[in-house]
Amino acid sequence: MDKRYLTFALGKGRLANKTLELLEQLGITCEEMKDKDSRKLIFVNEELKLKFFLSKGPDVPTYVEYGAADIGVVGKDTIVEENRRVYEVLDLGFGKCRMCVCGPASAKELLKHHERIRVATKYPLIAKDYFYNRKHQTVDIIKLNGSVELGPIVGLADVIVDIVETGSTLRENGLEVLEEICPLSARMIVNPVSMKMEYDRINKLIHDMKDLLSKQ
Ligand code: PRP
Repeated sequence: MDKRYLTFALGKGRLANKTLELLEQLGITCEEMKDKDSRKLIFVNEELKLKFFLSKGPDVPTYVEYGAADIGVVGKDTIVEENRRVYEVLDLGFGKCRMCVCGPASAKELLKHHERIRVATKYPLIAKDYFYNRKHQTVDIIKLNGSVELGPIVGLADVIVDIVETGSTLRENGLEVLEEICPLSARMIVNPVSMKMEYDRINKLIHDMKDLLSKQ
């Protein structure tokens, strides 16, 4: 019987580029994808029976949960926030950053005294879990879709829950890390049914990738 296609969903941007670079080192290439002018959304490697597509990061776990993609690569922040039924099988070790509570230095006190503060974030689930379940602090969470650092600057919120990589966005806006929630990096996720049905192919990929990462 012909092998079926294994489909990869990759979060657009740096994560996808780095993932493709690693796959290439394993001999898994997709020439079609390198044409930057192409408007094609899905790319095929006929020889290896693989398909690849790029999507917005938060959609990657959705495609993988429903089995529209067998395998996905996306940030840990997105995996936690989306809370989909997928297996997280490998920490790819790149895209390292931290999920933090940030704000002006003056907001430190508000975090100490369990005050009912306003928290702006792109990650309401992560923020809620942190404040309610770990800190036992009741807060008002305000969902934003980007440039979250604006929140405390314009008086929308007291603090933010956001990703910090180099810290330069915070520094340039007079904000700082007040508390660290968790470390983040790119992860490989797999659809639970695909993991069973295509165990050998997927398991080999995980092992080859692990091996490659250990040599980097
Ligand atoms: C992310 C994050 C911070 C910034 C952190 O934003 O939300 O704003 O990067 O990086 P730094 O610590 O290196 O400055 P992104 O660029 O993804 O855009 P967004 O603000 O629209 O989410």
